Amino acid sequence: MKKDLLTINDLSVSEINEILALAKELKEKRQGFGEPLKGKTIGLIFEKPSNRTRVSFEVGVTELGGHAIYLGSYEIDLGKRESPRDVAMVLSRYLKGIIARTFSHKTVVELARHASIPVINGLTDFQHPCQALSDLFTIKEKKGLENITVAYIGDGNNVLNSLLCICNKMGIKINAACPKGYEPSKDVAGSAKIFNAPEDAVKGADIVYTDVWTSMGQEKEYKKRLKVFKKYQVNSDLMKLANKDAIVMHCLPAHRGQEITDSVIDGPQSVVLDQAENRLHVQKAILIKLLK
Ligand code: CP
Ligand code: NVA
Repeated sequence: MKKDLLTINDLSVSEINEILALAKELKEKRQGFGEPLKGKTIGLIFEKPSNRTRVSFEVGVTELGGHAIYLGSYEIDLGKRESPRDVAMVLSRYLKGIIARTFSHKTVVELARHASIPVINGLTDFQHPCQALSDLFTIKEKKGLENITVAYIGDGNNVLNSLLCICNKMGIKINAACPKGYEPSKDVAGSAKIFNAPEDAVKGADIVYTDVWTSMGQEKEYKKRLKVFKKYQVNSDLMKLANKDAIVMHCLPAHRGQEITDSVIDGPQSVVLDQAENRLHVQKAILIKLLK
């Protein structure tokens, strides 16, 4: 039976560990892994812009011997030119897998329901599971997964939702600090501690993580959010409250001077470029697990 990756809950703990182990091997043997996707064509349906997700998936498919087709909003015009149901049924006759970045999470669910091939969520308004898997890989690489505390500062958005799900599933302690009204939902937060003050969340943290204050699709709220999130900046004063050897993570793109300062994102504690690179290795592992 085909397997989709729409949220972190689609994976068991052992499947997550298998993806991490395979990604490590793929990183070590970047060019020498063979061609497990030879003869397979994968479609990337993207309603929103992307640098890392699109490029790392396309490069990943190429390095594994397959072929990727980018289908931007102009090509498919999902839901306007054709329904997600019809798109999913037709593409299932050509492709071996779909990676979809959509505004609404319901759209990827609808694609997956009607596709006979695996559908991978490349970010929706609800989750970004490929980012969370890759972030877990980076955390393991830099800090190990034992006795660590992750602190997320900022918006209770898709990136935080997936990070909460993966940390809760893997038994990793996670705190978040979000303004009132911008917290993640209680069922997603699970056992995580959700604070309002950033200072409370970063105390004793080994990883300090942030993301943009205004996500794609929320552009109309930009000015309001600048005010609401003003105190939620990861800067050198906030970093002084975390553990001395804490690392700084950001899924990127970053709005420098807003959620993070230049001195922190470019400073010695920042691992954002390794974090971005790891998207490639982890997504190759996801592709092999789901499509081979
Ligand atoms: N982190 C991330 O998903 O980046 P893109 O939006 O550029 O793909
Ligand atoms: N929360 C951001 C993440 C971008 C990778 C957004 O959805 O725009």
